[in-house]
Amino acid sequence: MKNPGAGIALVVFLVGAAGFTFFRAGRVEVVRPWPPRQKEADSLSLPAPVAASLALASLAPSTHNTQPWKVRVISKDEVVVLLDETRLLPAVDPDRREAFVSIGAFLENLVRGAGTQGLSAEIELKTEDPAKLEVARVKFEPAAERPDPKELEAILSRNTFRGDLPSTALPGETVQILEGTAPSRWTFFPSGSPEGTWIREALGESNRVQASRNEAMEDLASWIRFSPRKVEHKRDGLTPAGMGLPPFARAFMALFFNEKSVTGQAFREAGIKKAQKQAGSCSGFFVLASPDGSPRSAVQAGRDLEAFWLEATARGVAVQPMSQVLEESPWKDRIASRLGIGGTVQMVLRVGLAPTPPRAVSPRRSLGSFVETP
Ligand SMILES: Cc1cc2nc3c(=O)[nH]c(=O)nc-3n(C[C@H](O)[C@H](O)[C@H](O)COP(=O)(O)O)c2cc1C
Repeated sequence: MKNPGAGIALVVFLVGAAGFTFFRAGRVEVVRPWPPRQKEADSLSLPAPVAASLALASLAPSTHNTQPWKVRVISKDEVVVLLDETRLLPAVDPDRREAFVSIGAFLENLVRGAGTQGLSAEIELKTEDPAKLEVARVKFEPAAERPDPKELEAILSRNTFRGDLPSTALPGETVQILEGTAPSRWTFFPSGSPEGTWIREALGESNRVQASRNEAMEDLASWIRFSPRKVEHKRDGLTPAGMGLPPFARAFMALFFNEKSVTGQAFREAGIKKAQKQAGSCSGFFVLASPDGSPRSAVQAGRDLEAFWLEATARGVAVQPMSQVLEESPWKDRIASRLGIGGTVQMVLRVGLAPTPPRAVSPRRSLGSFVETP
């Protein structure tokens, strides 16, 4: 070698860079618009409690963490919530049903989040003309009731749990309370029941079909954020920390994975195996139904979903939506009749007693990136 010093310096640099990436990916930096910053509320000309309510709303779950919402400020106490057409999943959610469910969850968090800020938020749905993309008009007023601190805690800690869950049965009282968050719309199927067994098998098979569809994997690829730098920059999508991976696996992904890895055979196979394991390790499945498949019903389903999830969080029940069964044929067309449910199935949730307290790690965009001022 002509210049051994340069070679050594290069090796030291590469080892240092890899070590730094390992260190960064091993730590989980939570990028979320909470606690809210006064400067941000001021820059949007919003009163601090309204800005805080919108920040809490954005902690809602959304399909692939696309956060498909946009907020237009009308006045200091009125906003319009819209569907953001740049944040959709064309191959996985062509009818935009899951996007509307996600916005429904945002609205439920907005109402509850406003309550924690001493406000009441009145929602008027505007889903009649889907071309207009307006979903709801929201008016804020001072609230008569005192805020419940437990509500804020649940909004802040709610998360999607993707690890193993015990098969221990949920206490009957817990099932009743959770079903009671939207009576007659939720049904619980224990994992050992004939329906629970059908759901488990259907989840495994629908995952396999989705993994074989290139367009669906491309949807997934465009919302996966492997590196900490991308997570900080985009503040959306699915992250290794959100997938519940341990530090070493997160660091490995940050170093060696990119968008292309997602459409590779190894990633597809690993995803199928993981989904089968998840479907097989839980107490059972909660299924949410609506009278029909309209955008309005999907928004209501999102509100039901979030009300359920916050109650589950407060009661130590871990939740993971598993949607491939509602996205792939023939399961999406058969699920309602197979489970004896009338109307449209909107969500299938895998649940179980949470092995650890919930910790929200998935990122959310800043207020300024989804709120437009006049
Ligand atoms: C309509 C909808 C469908 C979802 N489907 C799935 C799913 O199939 N698998 C999954 O692991 N998570 C699913 N999720 C959860 C989201 O990925 C999750 O909410 C998002 O990544 C943000 O993470 P968080 O819930 O931990 O805040 C779904 C969420 C919604 C609202």
